[in-house]
Amino acid sequence: MDRIRIVGGQRLNGTIPISGAKNAALPLMIASLLTDETLTLENVPRLRDVQQLFHILSNHGVDHSIEGKRNGQDGMTGQTVHLSARAIVDTTAPYELVSTMRASFWVIGPLLARMGEARVSLPGGCAIGTRPVDFFIEGLKGLGAEIDIDAGYVVARARKGMQGGRVVLPKVSVGATHTLLMAATLARGETVIENAAREPEIVDLARCLMAMGARIEGAGTSTIHVEGVSRLGGARHRVLPDRIETGTYAMAVATVGGDVLLEGASADLIEAPLALLAGAGVGVERTNSGVRITRNGHGLAPVDVTTAPFPGFPTDLQAQLMAMTTRADGVSHITETIFENRFMHVQELARLGARITLDGQRATIEGGAKLKGAPVMATDLRASVSLVIAGLAAEGETTINRVYHLDRGFERLEDKLGRCGAEIERISG
Ligand code: EPZ
Repeated sequence: MDRIRIVGGQRLNGTIPISGAKNAALPLMIASLLTDETLTLENVPRLRDVQQLFHILSNHGVDHSIEGKRNGQDGMTGQTVHLSARAIVDTTAPYELVSTMRASFWVIGPLLARMGEARVSLPGGCAIGTRPVDFFIEGLKGLGAEIDIDAGYVVARARKGMQGGRVVLPKVSVGATHTLLMAATLARGETVIENAAREPEIVDLARCLMAMGARIEGAGTSTIHVEGVSRLGGARHRVLPDRIETGTYAMAVATVGGDVLLEGASADLIEAPLALLAGAGVGVERTNSGVRITRNGHGLAPVDVTTAPFPGFPTDLQAQLMAMTTRADGVSHITETIFENRFMHVQELARLGARITLDGQRATIEGGAKLKGAPVMATDLRASVSLVIAGLAAEGETTINRVYHLDRGFERLEDKLGRCGAEIERISG
């Protein structure tokens, strides 16, 4: 199993290209199930989750091809992918596939909408919490589906097709919003999704669906209206930049110091985290080509942050922020409100010397502790990258085991950081 070895203490200086967003690419790829024409996605990141979703979609009959390199492109340029679901040959998403990636459960929406049936394995728990699917089930029932749970599978039918309806989500859910949005595009009549997620990835999916012929209003607000159409066609769509990758590298620079241009990043997608960094004393500058992050000689002020759905501070940056606050001049507080068990990184950060105490969902971080390299274990995607950030700031050598978590969501992490002066390498095997 691969490991990442870091020798900490270097500042970061240079340019880091920001990839297409994993959490936009996944639902966009799933949207290919809605049409028998080709959906072309540009700027798709090279990630393990993307590979896994190709595999899952191909089980339903989706062909995919990846364009070869073009003039002027390098290994950091996003991929252009053609997805074609000419015929759906299987409406079952089996446990072996769904259990590897929760987002694959979302195929239930387009499969039901296009085929009138879907049998999708319950995704089960994961490292960050229980993550149930009750909102999906109730929402799809609200759009006319009949749903049973049978032997670990959600069995859904809509023999006469999906029917528009009004769905009120009990709590903001990104996945339920994506799924209901996709299902509603081919439903008869109007659907209203209330308390919808407002994340930029929802807006990106809606834009792509509209390019495919869907009629959607209000994506990016809490109320989304969808007027169903009888069929969708092909389209070409560019995946938006990854705001979590952007925030991660911004926090890495804030932690160790330096001057880095996050090329291709969009500051508009990540206002809350950037405002927080600026408030802590980090230089944040919007440029024509991205976002420039600097910290040279200035201290880091402590922060008090609570995670929240967009436009609030994202749970997907909570672990990285915690690594950063270990370097702050004072005591920081971080409260996690989205997932009940998203503090797996605390114990590992403590192995590097961080002083963190937990009280339920609230972490208190005493800044200024001297971090010292040690072997640590990656537990989930964002937790793993928080260990990378802490490793960059620690004195001596840190080895991060179970790197496959990082490969799920960070494209060429060691190359991107290495280009900016970090002493970081992947050790294979
Ligand atoms: C998406 O997960 C992201 N995944 C997550 O990113 C992200 O952490 C999360 O949204 C929150 O922003 C992708 O986009 C692929 P939710 P999702 O449904 O959709 C509860 C990463 O690191 N809930 O918005 O699964 C749920 O338990 C990943 O890239 C129910 O109770 O999250 C949670 O408390 C990890 N019942 C809350 O809602 C349901 O039926 C929000 O979860 C559905 C959700």
